[in-house]
Amino acid sequence: MSDNMAETLAEVVLQHVDKKGHINSLELATELKEDHQKIVGAIKSLQSFGELIKAEQIVNKRWELTDEGRDVATNGSHEARVYYAIPDAGTSQAQIMKTVPNAKIGFSKAMQAGWIVMDKKAEGGPKVNKKADKIEDVIQKNLVKLQQDQTDSLTDEQKAEYKKRKLITEVKITSYEITKGDNFSLTIEKPEVDLTPEMLQSGSWKTKNFKEYNFDALGIPPNGGHLHPLLKVRAAYRQIFLEMGFTEMPTNNFVESCFWNFDALFQPQQHPARDAHDTFFVSEPQVSDIKRVPPDYLQRVKRVHAEGGYGSQGYKVEWKTEEAEKNILRTHTTAVSARMLYKLAQQETFTPVKYFSIDRVFRNETTDATHLAEFHQIEGVVADYGLTLGNLMGIIEEFFKKLNITKLRFKPTYNPYTEPSMELFSYHEGLKKWVEIGNSGIFRPEMLLPMGLPEGVSVIAWGLSLERPTMIKYKIDDIRTLIGPKVDLQMVYDNPICRVEKH
Ligand code: PHE
Repeated sequence: MSDNMAETLAEVVLQHVDKKGHINSLELATELKEDHQKIVGAIKSLQSFGELIKAEQIVNKRWELTDEGRDVATNGSHEARVYYAIPDAGTSQAQIMKTVPNAKIGFSKAMQAGWIVMDKKAEGGPKVNKKADKIEDVIQKNLVKLQQDQTDSLTDEQKAEYKKRKLITEVKITSYEITKGDNFSLTIEKPEVDLTPEMLQSGSWKTKNFKEYNFDALGIPPNGGHLHPLLKVRAAYRQIFLEMGFTEMPTNNFVESCFWNFDALFQPQQHPARDAHDTFFVSEPQVSDIKRVPPDYLQRVKRVHAEGGYGSQGYKVEWKTEEAEKNILRTHTTAVSARMLYKLAQQETFTPVKYFSIDRVFRNETTDATHLAEFHQIEGVVADYGLTLGNLMGIIEEFFKKLNITKLRFKPTYNPYTEPSMELFSYHEGLKKWVEIGNSGIFRPEMLLPMGLPEGVSVIAWGLSLERPTMIKYKIDDIRTLIGPKVDLQMVYDNPICRVEKH
């Protein structure tokens, strides 16, 4: 009928419940000479079969003898053994100590009980003599009683004393009281596990016995998650930065103020990139709390824009706080680099840093196969004393070498916040031409000095998009299949992991 031990035992349990109407798992274990834990296992398995049985858990405490307690139960208490070891003519204490186990405790307990006495003035040295003619070893008797019969035969005082003497300990025993359940039966019918559409259609589910839900079950492990290609390439780039000793910048704010996105970067307030055509302005809340920018820094930024300073002429046009406090969706992660460099400038002593970030930016562009209104930027920033254009080219070459891009070219360009500025090109073997892959430069003193960075510290930086290398790597020719509402999840499942062959 059943093919495993647990079920056989489960059926035996059912038979006993049927016969007696009410059983206790502990008593059943004694009766069947079976391990109590196995009985409990059988009860647990019965509980999963609907309402076959009712099982009520009960926790009992009971006293058990310790090893020492068992020794006392068989050989007598320590004090009794001392008493019996003394011959009628008495003996020396040293002799008792040598021959009787646990004589030290036994001796003092026997003295306390008045069973023995010391004769200090005896001829030939002090002696121990029996004082009582006869003794009764109550402890031994009680422990034997406890061993044979669990019903309470000892007084609380005795139990406390024996516990203190470490002769007995209290243990907790969990057992079950079992009675018949509403669906009691002597046979175990394997319940249905799954509700099928057929059962629903035929109505057979009404009479079927279903296995109860086990809310503690771990469930079926997922057969592996799938990372979006952008995330896979992101992980590869991140790894390279980390290997080169760069620290990741916190980029978790998509909404940014114009101040950090443009003004701190010495981008003029009249610059076309600030236009609503290129930038998404946030309508709620429209302005950011500009008071969070330290006022002295704000003033220095204002001055360098409007009047110049630090050897610069500035833009010589009015600079307005109302422009700087506008909330926008950040147009580049360089806004985060600006925040981090300002923070760095506030350190008591300047320390060289290498930062990176890879996160989302937003530009109000008409979307086509290669442009979306949002994309990801990869940005690297290195700050140290005396960095030059040579360092910039060297670091960038090293970075791209790790990506297996060795043919690099730099082309001068213009950025409001870097001087010099250089576009990065790499030779595309497939297209057989040089393609633009990024932008770079050395941050202008008009940006760094108002922050409070020491003179002589230069900061080199470069940025590239994450989408472009991802599209090349995964041979995707329309960016809209990569991000946005048209993404097909199957594309995410099917694409293999990104492996950059590193040098
Ligand atoms: N912020 C630039 C962009 O959005 C990239 C860049 C980063 C350029 C750092 C120079 C230095 O294209």
